[in-house]
Amino acid sequence: MSQKVLITGGAGYIGSVVTERLIGQGYEPIVIDDLSAGNRGAVHPKARFVAGDVRNSNDLAVLFESFAIRSVIHLAAKASVSQSISDPAPFYAVNVGGGIQLLEAMITYGVKRIVVSSTAAVYGEPLGIPLDEDHPTAPLSSYGETKLSFERMLAWYVKAYKLEATTFRYFNAAGASDAYGEAHVPETHLIPSLLRAADTDGVSHIFGNDYDTPDGTCIRDFVHVVDLADAHIRALEIPNLDGLRTFNLGSGTGYSVLEVIEFIETVTGQKLHKHFCPRRNGDPARLVASFDKAKEGLGWQPRKQALRSIVESAWRWHKAHPKGYEDLIESSARAGSTQKHE
Ligand code: UFG
Repeated sequence: MSQKVLITGGAGYIGSVVTERLIGQGYEPIVIDDLSAGNRGAVHPKARFVAGDVRNSNDLAVLFESFAIRSVIHLAAKASVSQSISDPAPFYAVNVGGGIQLLEAMITYGVKRIVVSSTAAVYGEPLGIPLDEDHPTAPLSSYGETKLSFERMLAWYVKAYKLEATTFRYFNAAGASDAYGEAHVPETHLIPSLLRAADTDGVSHIFGNDYDTPDGTCIRDFVHVVDLADAHIRALEIPNLDGLRTFNLGSGTGYSVLEVIEFIETVTGQKLHKHFCPRRNGDPARLVASFDKAKEGLGWQPRKQALRSIVESAWRWHKAHPKGYEDLIESSARAGSTQKHE
């Protein structure tokens, strides 16, 4: 039997692939997104789309009243680490304030199951790698801090209101499905920025080469967005006996910025000029996940050779959509699934 799932932020990068995968598994996704960072063209034509804001309790009430929503996947958030340091206010408003509104609505309408996107940024500078879920949390950015605040709040709500919550701490989501990929405006993420460089001026920017890592550049753990989406389906389907369960989602392997550049050069066949720039605020030197807990609790594991498959899929998507979502907006609008509530 198909099941209605509300996806907040479903027009964003990760949301687009989660929605696509839900449809593939026979669910009925309902996407709410204010399109501040998401794209209308990133919403699968078979999904129901509602333009709205999770901070707005009316937008949420209309949704819960209109549809028999059984579970929620909460992805709507402000997510730029560096912006969150220079301008934390919207991060608190959306990531904490919006989260509160959503939980209130779930309680009012008796919806118990929620899957929440959190982040490796809750850990801060690791004391050792790989990071497991018991590693102390000490965020270096207000982004990480707001995600951690929401996690902590959720733990109390789970106890008091008997919610069933799964929290995922994503490491660096990257790659594309056949239809949906990463296209932020402005683009700040490493892999799409490098692919664009390979396709245009050939100049890569490297933020810091004086970190305490073998080649001096930051090390990150890139996890394929399709693998992430798969974890969300598992979270909906595998019974949650703990009330709140928290999992890291990463590939378990770290690559430095310079190593990623090498991968990009191999896959695209383009040599990139390396422009070394100062460090970016709020960047930990290394982030590498232990995914043992997700493997044990959800039977989830990342694909082998994740970075190669990430870069290849992202490059395919970039070549098919050099303007990001601009070219997809029309075809989605033609599908006519937009609903707008006042
Ligand atoms: N970087 C460059 N040049 C670029 C872009 C990025 O050197 O042009 C560096 C960054 O300084 C960082 C690394 O590449 O060291 C990765 O940067 P991203 O912006 O791609 O990703 P972040 O690690 O900053 O953040 C991402 C998500 C966050 C999440 C975090 C968890 O955006 O939401 O991963 O690991 F919290």
